[in-house]
Amino acid sequence: MDMVALARNYPTPFYAYDAEVLRARIAELTEAFKAQNVSLHYAVKANDNPAIIAMAAKAGIGGCTVTAGEIKRALAGGIAPAMILMNGVGKTDTDIRFALASGIGQINVESIPELTVIADIARDMGVIAPIGLRINPEVEADTHSHLATGRRTDKFGTLVEDLPEAKHVIASRPELKWIALSCHIGTQVHNASELRRGYEVMSALFSEQEGLDRLDLGGGFGVSYKGDSYAKPADFAPVVLEATKQLQARGVRIQLEPGRYIAAEAGTLVTKVLYVKKSGGQTFVIVDAGMNDLIRPALYDAYHPMSLARSSKAAHIPCVIAGGVCESGDVFARGRMLPSDVVRGDILEIGFAGAYGHAMSSFYNARPRLAEVLIDGNEARLIRRALTAEEFDAATLAA
Ligand code: LLP
Repeated sequence: MDMVALARNYPTPFYAYDAEVLRARIAELTEAFKAQNVSLHYAVKANDNPAIIAMAAKAGIGGCTVTAGEIKRALAGGIAPAMILMNGVGKTDTDIRFALASGIGQINVESIPELTVIADIARDMGVIAPIGLRINPEVEADTHSHLATGRRTDKFGTLVEDLPEAKHVIASRPELKWIALSCHIGTQVHNASELRRGYEVMSALFSEQEGLDRLDLGGGFGVSYKGDSYAKPADFAPVVLEATKQLQARGVRIQLEPGRYIAAEAGTLVTKVLYVKKSGGQTFVIVDAGMNDLIRPALYDAYHPMSLARSSKAAHIPCVIAGGVCESGDVFARGRMLPSDVVRGDILEIGFAGAYGHAMSSFYNARPRLAEVLIDGNEARLIRRALTAEEFDAATLAA
């Protein structure tokens, strides 16, 4: 769709999602794993808009959540409670109560103290909690240090050496029904073989346990932000199969939690150029979106493709593309080539922003949280309106 035209109908900045791309990525995943005993659970943290969750739900994909709020959004998107999993190293009592009351399929427990808290709450509610034990397999994924989860020093899951104690606690609590082992090795993994080791460790560990029927291998399938060659679900599928063939043959269900793969590529942050500023030998292109709208470049030094929405024959020059937030770190890209005739009012598209974009946005600098628009063919529809700082102010109590 022509973003210049779209930006006439919706005030910038806003997020636009392409339904065809979402459907294609969802189909690619379901197709890759359809011959296996695998259930997919969309990690809604990547993009928790119920309209997007609904597209995954329609394809038979479940949900992977970390809070009561995410469970609510997964339910709003039409995912059946039994298909919803919950992770989280810091589940609050409210989260746990809500998860149990909603009857979600599996709560992955990340520590021994959490086992006791869940058991106490379940006893209080008179229900049985279906739990998975999240293991930290101590396998390093090649990714940004903020994004690695499976090293010994990371906060997630229980170490294998603590498994006997965890099992001891589980055995002493009839309110806990232990059904699964789980893990999450890392995110933005670009080579299928990087996950192999973790899958094998988990598969071997699973074989040593009794009475479990699900092995949750987490998410992590990466996307190619720079357009270079990346593993696809069809490349990950044989690795999952090889590592879990024997388990699948005896009826064990393998669960996967892809987030980024479903949502990243479909999303574009549509922003308008406010000022073109020449300073210190550089060309700064200051846009109306900021790090509060898309924090990935500032937080992880992440690369996103960026281009003007109109064509231009002008020569390209290196630019610093920055937002208006009062922080030097609010820069989307440095040395990025844009046409030299870039002017105030131009529409800039920041691509691959559908995952961990809007979901990680904030009201910083009293800026709004952005509207989200779903484009389907020639149709565009608002799937979440902007939330202004004034509306947030309504929650402020008198000074
Ligand atoms: N399962 C668990 C337990 C997770 O912690 C995550 C992501 C996923 C599944 C989904 O992983 P994915 O398939 O999306 O890689 N904000 C960062 C990414 C943080 C990922 C956190 N956990 C970013 O913008 O790159």
